[in-house]
Amino acid sequence: MMTRMLVLMAALVAPILGHAVESGSQIAWTTETLKLVKKGNVEKGKSLAESCKSCHGEFGQGMSSEVVDDETIPAIPALAGQVANYTFKQLRDYFNGDRSNDSMTSIAKGLTEQDAADLAAWYAWLPAPKQKVGNNEKLAIAEKMVREGDGKRILPPCFVCHGANGQGEKMDIPSLAGQHADYFERTLLAYKNDQRHNDIYSRMRLIAKQLKDDEIKALARYYQNMQ
Ligand code: HEC
Ligand code: HEC
Repeated sequence: MMTRMLVLMAALVAPILGHAVESGSQIAWTTETLKLVKKGNVEKGKSLAESCKSCHGEFGQGMSSEVVDDETIPAIPALAGQVANYTFKQLRDYFNGDRSNDSMTSIAKGLTEQDAADLAAWYAWLPAPKQKVGNNEKLAIAEKMVREGDGKRILPPCFVCHGANGQGEKMDIPSLAGQHADYFERTLLAYKNDQRHNDIYSRMRLIAKQLKDDEIKALARYYQNMQ
């Protein structure tokens, strides 16, 4: 039912935006795939994650670009506390070539489906990161987008999908709370210009394309500060 509604929504919106909506990902949330992720082994994931620590941090906290301090390496996303289905899907999308990144594509190619499920279970098990950095900026525009959206632009509020506390939701909607602002901004800009196109039914691209760059910046700060 939900799927049919989304397909309909995508079919209706695509011609308006003037480009075809591709599925964007080869992941289908079949009962078997959901079961595979649900049964991911935390202990196995923990040992596989040894090879991820150099970039994603000891506790999956990621790194902001200030810490990375190397122009060839972009900010690295936090993975701790992430919705397991989302992490699994991203690893499979890199594996299948539906999302690409210099570092992650080759790493994901070395992981089986089972490895991806185990890693997803491990990162979901870790507590979400706290990146709080001074909160004295004016984030009112972000607050409005998150809580109310903008009816004039047909922009739904972020919280209906990402949750009232930015915790993510069922199926494959990622948590955003505590994510590094510089990664957040970069990935939203990538959806906006179609560099990132692995979102099923273009759910994020349709939204990102309508956001102004300064709104994206404010939203990134807003979610980083959210606990
Ligand atoms: C050389 C550094 C490096 C290593 C090692 C690395 N990653 Fe990454 N990872 C990155 C970068 C950079 C990104 C952001 C890529 C992008 O923008 O698409 C990323 C993105 C991801 C994402 C997507 C996160 C999101 O919020 O969408 C996942 C999941 C991920 N990595 C998992 C892993 C796992 C699991 C391992 C170990 C098996 C690993 N990574 C090892 C650098 C690394
Ligand atoms: C219709 C539901 C929906 C709405 C509304 C929505 N999102 Fe998303 N968002 C998603 C889905 C689904 C994904 C994961 C797509 C994928 O697999 O790449 C996502 C991914 C993201 C990501 C990437 C996270 C990461 O770790 O790489 C960011 C950032 C994001 N959304 C921000 C927002 C913001 C800001 C808003 C409000 C302006 C918003 N989203 C509204 C469904 C939604």
